[in-house]
Amino acid sequence: MGYPTKKLRRLRKNQIIRDMVTETKLSVEDLVMPLFVCPSTGVKNPIPSMPGNYQLSVDLLVEECKKLVKKGIKSILLFGIPEEKDDDGTVATHDDAIVQRAIKAIKKEIDDIFIIADVCNCEYTVHGHCGTIVDGDVHNDLTIKTLVAQSISFARVGADMVAPSDMMDGRVKEIRKGLDEHGFYNTPIMSYSAKYASAFYGPFRDAADSAPKFGNRNTYQMNPVNSDEAMREIEADIDEGADIVMVKPALSYLDIIRRCHDTFNIPLAAYNVSGEFAMVKAAAANGWIDEKRIVMELLTSIKRAGADIILTYFASDAADYIQGEK
Ligand code: PBG
Repeated sequence: MGYPTKKLRRLRKNQIIRDMVTETKLSVEDLVMPLFVCPSTGVKNPIPSMPGNYQLSVDLLVEECKKLVKKGIKSILLFGIPEEKDDDGTVATHDDAIVQRAIKAIKKEIDDIFIIADVCNCEYTVHGHCGTIVDGDVHNDLTIKTLVAQSISFARVGADMVAPSDMMDGRVKEIRKGLDEHGFYNTPIMSYSAKYASAFYGPFRDAADSAPKFGNRNTYQMNPVNSDEAMREIEADIDEGADIVMVKPALSYLDIIRRCHDTFNIPLAAYNVSGEFAMVKAAAANGWIDEKRIVMELLTSIKRAGADIILTYFASDAADYIQGEK
């Protein structure tokens, strides 16, 4: 049976029927807000390429978290800008390091919040690479040692989940082992499983002061042209004990998100990264697009592709849009 009996436009007749047949609905519970914490007090450094985002000192970060929780964004992803860097990122493995201080302060003041700590070395090394350099490249197993120490410290000071973003082989297994050995068997791991060597991270590297000082990240992050390899990365992380897997970036990788969703039975996160955010902001600032409609369309497309969790710098704005306050 086809046209003229069948007419698909019947179910688009008005908003009520369109709402009834809605297949994908974005909610505030899907969204995680990434935040950047820096030393000192009273600091709110704007990040020029990411309008509306700031490097916040711990005191102001706590205030920001209170605002987010109030509007229903109860989950945050923390990145740190340390006072000092070193060769291998050991500065980030102590319980009084910058992200650890932030976690403690937030947990002290806010009950109803879920803190995800990003686990990586690039913000903490003088060379800006995600691990320990041996013979001009990031050494896999030496790097894992610092990642495990960082993860254990985050869990000890109260992180609700750790999220390794370094792309070393085997780090999920070793982090799981380290957490379990220290009694943190209930701390989940959200692994950046299929993380691509992407130009879309540009603004973030300014925000987190984490751009590599030499070379690039092509020996550890994935080649953007590959899809089968992403399935192997995700499968490996699931085998090693990841509780949630992630595809990153999101918008140029919706096919990877869909494929992961169809292939694996595990919660899936997608990271709507800084470059994706910056492009929308720049176009909106020029009056070229309707920001609110674009943001909702983009975030909903990530969910429609199969993501359960969306990490996005639009989380706060989207909460307002969803709740009709903007
Ligand atoms: C690495 C890390 C990066 C991002 C999140 N974690 C940058 C990188 O790999 O260079 C990028 C996030 C974004 O662009 O929004 N610790």
